[in-house]
Amino acid sequence: MDYNRIKISLDQAEKILLDLYRIEGTVSPLPGYVDFNFKIKTKKEERFVLKISRPNENKKYLDYQQKLLQYIHQSDEKIMAPKVLFDQNDEAISEIIDDYGNKRYVRMLTWVSGRVWSAVNPQLANFRQSLGEQCGILTKILENFDHPEAHYYFEWDIAQGLWTKKHLHLFDEQKKEVLSYFQDLFEASQVSYKKLRKSVVHNDPNDNNIIVSLDLYNPKAIAAIDYGDAMYTQTINDLAILCAYGAFGHENPLSALLDLVKGYHSKFKLEEKELVHLYHAIAMRLIIIVTRAAMSKIEEPDNPYLWISEKPAWKVLNQWFLISADFAHYSFRDACGFSAHPDENTFKKWVASKSFKLSELFPRINKDVVHPLDLSVSSKWMGHEKEFNNLDYFQYKIDQVQKNEPDKLIAGGYLEPRSIYTTNTYDRIGNNGTERRSIHLGIDYWLPAETAVHAILDGEVVLAVNDAGNKEYGGLVILKHQIDGWLFYTLYGHLSVASATKNKRGQQLKKGDKIGVLGNTTENGNWAPHLHFQIVLSLLDYEVDFPGVAYFSEITVWKSICPDPNVLFKSDSLSPKQYADPEALKNYRQQHLGKSLRLQYKTPIEMVRGSGVFLVDSVGRKYLDTVNNVAHVGHENYEVVKAGQEQMALINTNTRYLHKNINNLAKELLETLPPELNVFHFVNSGSEANELAVRMAKTVTGEKDMIVSEAGYHGNTNTCVAISSYKFDGKGGQGAPEYTHVFPLPDKFRGKYRGNETTEEYVEEVQKQLKNITRKGRNVAGFIIEPIISCGGQIVLPEGFLKKSYQAVRNSGGLCISDEIQTGCGRMGKTFWGFQLHDVIPDIVTIGKPLGNGHPVAAVVCTQEVAKQFANGMEFFNTFGGNPVSCAIGAEVIRTVKREQLQKNALEIGNYLKKELLALAIQFPIIGDVRGEGLFIGIELVDKNLNPLANHADYIANRMKDHGILMSTDGPDHNVLKIKPPMVFSIQNAKELLGYLKKILGEDFMKNFKN
Ligand SMILES: Cc1ncc(COP(=O)(O)O)c(C=O)c1O
Repeated sequence: MDYNRIKISLDQAEKILLDLYRIEGTVSPLPGYVDFNFKIKTKKEERFVLKISRPNENKKYLDYQQKLLQYIHQSDEKIMAPKVLFDQNDEAISEIIDDYGNKRYVRMLTWVSGRVWSAVNPQLANFRQSLGEQCGILTKILENFDHPEAHYYFEWDIAQGLWTKKHLHLFDEQKKEVLSYFQDLFEASQVSYKKLRKSVVHNDPNDNNIIVSLDLYNPKAIAAIDYGDAMYTQTINDLAILCAYGAFGHENPLSALLDLVKGYHSKFKLEEKELVHLYHAIAMRLIIIVTRAAMSKIEEPDNPYLWISEKPAWKVLNQWFLISADFAHYSFRDACGFSAHPDENTFKKWVASKSFKLSELFPRINKDVVHPLDLSVSSKWMGHEKEFNNLDYFQYKIDQVQKNEPDKLIAGGYLEPRSIYTTNTYDRIGNNGTERRSIHLGIDYWLPAETAVHAILDGEVVLAVNDAGNKEYGGLVILKHQIDGWLFYTLYGHLSVASATKNKRGQQLKKGDKIGVLGNTTENGNWAPHLHFQIVLSLLDYEVDFPGVAYFSEITVWKSICPDPNVLFKSDSLSPKQYADPEALKNYRQQHLGKSLRLQYKTPIEMVRGSGVFLVDSVGRKYLDTVNNVAHVGHENYEVVKAGQEQMALINTNTRYLHKNINNLAKELLETLPPELNVFHFVNSGSEANELAVRMAKTVTGEKDMIVSEAGYHGNTNTCVAISSYKFDGKGGQGAPEYTHVFPLPDKFRGKYRGNETTEEYVEEVQKQLKNITRKGRNVAGFIIEPIISCGGQIVLPEGFLKKSYQAVRNSGGLCISDEIQTGCGRMGKTFWGFQLHDVIPDIVTIGKPLGNGHPVAAVVCTQEVAKQFANGMEFFNTFGGNPVSCAIGAEVIRTVKREQLQKNALEIGNYLKKELLALAIQFPIIGDVRGEGLFIGIELVDKNLNPLANHADYIANRMKDHGILMSTDGPDHNVLKIKPPMVFSIQNAKELLGYLKKILGEDFMKNFKN
């Protein structure tokens, strides 16, 4: 039918409204697949939906629709749905004749306010679960509803979806392959599918038919609208349809769908036999979408609403095609609280009555007792990653363990989170950034190459391959064991390729037969020789290999598919890896550690390992660290670790003995400093350094008064807090002490004076404080400031400010201290020290955080003059400061910065980041300012009136963490995101940071500000 002849114009809709309902209001069009729908807004702000049928619509069908809505409203369940409105004649369905003489039916429903599901960004787990819950409630309400009109032929009914087979010719070969794969699967499962329970279901809970609350932080599905497709069919189809749309826009659709399934099952209990069909049913709905779209493009080319979902549906179909049907099925079961693998309990029961011996697996070794070996991410035995990647050394360590435990088999690893899998074959991009397979699914037995492995029970060879290309196993054999009516597999990885491939598929092995021998290092994926032994209840779709390591996010499914192999041998000393409970760690800490300690992030992380720009948590998840300027040359930099370890093994004592390390550290630092600054006092922390610096200034000048910047932070000791406006002007603070004089934060973006011409005004403020001091009849002792004020929000000082302020302070007899605790050691990129950006030479410089790369070492450097006057007879003794271990570490850090040209890297990557962030600021006006030098950057979030947006900054930091990227916020108003990563931060790291930042800046919550 010609679309233009059936279309209803806005004027027509307005007239119908008035004629039938006596309602006046503004009318706007709404999308509709069959009906012509309009949104009505009355003067009293009431809102309705006016629905006008196509010609020849079946009135009985519309009656069914209205009855269904009325039924929902009678239910005890709390659920929102449109309400039926009656016309002037008290009819739920009215009739009109259109301009072409066709009878058209009209209905009015109340408007359900909110926004549609497709407009929600991001669609996180809680929200997805609420979608499932909403649909589950609806299914439950409708379970006992019926109507003769609910039983009909409908193209959109999944149960009837095989009609799509006739239209395969509309697609190219690649698409045909995908479509027929699912159609064939669905067809093959018809016998049991047809037997599933049936009921009237909504049948179209798509992403434009679910209404969502307006809460941008924690949105919830609140109602389903448009019941036009409701029908009697397999009950599971409603969930399948919800899932088909719920998969849109996710990198990992299966993972996203599990929340839907969980939510749905919590409100409407699914049966195990229904879950068998969910994977196919989801695919069938997607197939109906794409087939209908391809047909509509030909039939009604003017109505693009008809293929609105085609593109995302194809994306999901292609993704779904790559997901194993069995794995999806097990995951759905797991989400509903069933054992993920249906045979898991059968296996457990069977194995409980059996007893196998390790000496049957390795008869020539003939040992049955195990010595457990921990290779997990937090294992101290594993040591530094450079060491565990050194095969000879790793083997040596294994040999030592074996020497100490000659009668035992060295083994372990089931469910261990490991950090040893470093090639990118272990990575994938998930719904929340990069995910890495880290959970080991088998047990490793560490034995020499050539050790023979024998079958512990009869089995058929189903796989015997050289898997060395995948670097997961080398020689791999899988045996199938048929038990009464069910089966399981045993997997033998890291065999020699020759012995593994000698087995032939289909070959029967008897208990005691030799399977193969262990491979050597070169043929088993560059591992020290060992057997990877794993139980497998389902091979999924794997034909040439099978994973031995899984993603932590899927651990509950994998541990059901691959139960603990130790249940066969029942070794007392081998138990599956237990994970530390973060809540328990947190509770203990809250009870017994300082009450004012703070934890980062809404859900804190337990970090157990560092590696360059990454931190690794206790389950092996890697986080890109963009905030830690302490791990200056990279977390656990090997040379630095070694320098500390080696020195610690020799001697660690105080500065009252001669030792070359302290001189060496001084020499390394001297090379980077102006010649005037050449005397060092080594201490243990930034606070201690500033404490000493202030003491020096007071001793040298004989005065007590300090001039400091608003929002400056200089440490946690008494004196340091007394000069830190960030603390005494912040929460719990009591304002500036008598001898501290604060000048306003020299912030040209949002400070007291704004713009590029503010130098004089801010210098004037410093002078004001100098005058204040003289007015009190005293003189200034010192002036302390960071070259870029970090806690103040990465405030870049106005040009010339520092030079002129130094002059003013010196003219009054004070000393100038540059706090380089954050900015020092090359981070600024252009210069090695922050003060050098400003063309000044301080009297005292304090150095902290980066100097030890995590080890507590700090320094105060000053001129000979200051040092001489400070040495007034009182000894400066510091028990730990300047000890040989700390100095070895500090010297190695500075050497590494020089050797690896990290200052240059800071300049290049910092400039790249700033350029790209400025481009983002154009796209996202919430970014008010991007500033900083080198790898010390601030991004300030404000509204159009420059009001700070702390919640938005906090939101970004937490969402970035969800994506495996660590960021922090700072500034007196907590609205500045800081970027100050380890200096080994690469261009790839910068791109990853920017990519996710852009994604998150586009999320709903970020748009909620005055612009
Ligand atoms: C600029 C500045 N000065 C001093 C300190 C104090 O250093 P520490 O925590 O090592 O005592 C810090 C620490 O955050 C700092 O950022």
